[in-house]
Amino acid sequence: MEQTPDTGADGEVSACICYNKRCYGRRKAMLNMAEFYYFSPTGGTRKAGEIFCRGISEHIKAVDLGVKDRAVTKPESHLAVIAAPVYGGRIPSVVTKKLTELDGRGKNAVTLAVYGTRAYEDALLELNRTLEGKGFYVAASAALVAQHSIVPEVGRGRPNRQDEEEILAFAGKVLEKLECGSDSPVKVPGNHPYKNGMSVTMTPVSSPDCCQCGKCAAICPTGAVKMENGEILTELETCIMCMACVAACPKHARALPDVLQEKTEQKLAGLKSVHRENEFFL
Ligand SMILES: Cc1cc2nc3c(=O)[nH]c(=O)nc-3n(C[C@H](O)[C@H](O)[C@H](O)COP(=O)(O)O)c2cc1C
Ligand code: SF4
Ligand code: SF4
Repeated sequence: MEQTPDTGADGEVSACICYNKRCYGRRKAMLNMAEFYYFSPTGGTRKAGEIFCRGISEHIKAVDLGVKDRAVTKPESHLAVIAAPVYGGRIPSVVTKKLTELDGRGKNAVTLAVYGTRAYEDALLELNRTLEGKGFYVAASAALVAQHSIVPEVGRGRPNRQDEEEILAFAGKVLEKLECGSDSPVKVPGNHPYKNGMSVTMTPVSSPDCCQCGKCAAICPTGAVKMENGEILTELETCIMCMACVAACPKHARALPDVLQEKTEQKLAGLKSVHRENEFFL
């Protein structure tokens, strides 16, 4: 016998987005537990990801992929939320490397590519393919906008209140999809072969205001910053220009060289008044 849709107290049917014929759009309960893997040198990716996590699970185990030399282990729960910033339309190499340590067999994943208003290009596709290659079933994905970590006037304050509402609504739909057991694969934009990775030609440098506290060296996810004979040295070969050291410096003594900062500001100037919409894929 054919079942009828559940209705809420107000008699309203909550529409289900999964298109699974057995699912009739029941409102779904939060998960008990989920893992949140994130890389967030300046905090925007983490902020966006935490909003999503709040909407999907009672308890979250957060794993910072930016901690150098910390091995990542198999998720304990059934769902892993994986959030990464977009660099040059790709996922930072340090993230893809860490994700290949994960065993995702039998696990669901939700992916979030967080970008600074310009474009996310192949990043979400790259993130999903990397995880699928590790055995995850990627149930849902989103391209979310955050303040640009080099030019903060671009997308300033994002994710904001409106973003929060959209991300929480998305979390509700992901719960519905997971609970009704849909296994329809998520399709995201992007091309393969991916565009070439961004080349780093300059690194942040320390000014004479530096008090040699060592915070930049401690936070650098690639080990590019070294303190040698009372001097802060930064290796061009390993720096990914993530801006973590700039954001962490208590003396505001670390910045990109003026020439690169100005060039980037000029390149992104036209985006200061642009409001890019978040995009959700289920
Ligand atoms: C090296 C670098 C490259 C970036 N490339 C892009 C890009 O291709 N497209 C874009 O929209 N934003 C780009 N951004 C902006 C970041 O994706 C955005 O600010 C993100 O929120 C940063 O994450 P975080 O705050 O967690 O560090 C780039 C930022 C950096 C530092
Ligand atoms: S964090 Fe800033 S003050 Fe501390 S060592 Fe690095 S540049 Fe110097
Ligand atoms: S030195 Fe480069 S890689 Fe290290 S924290 Fe600074 S910007 Fe990021």
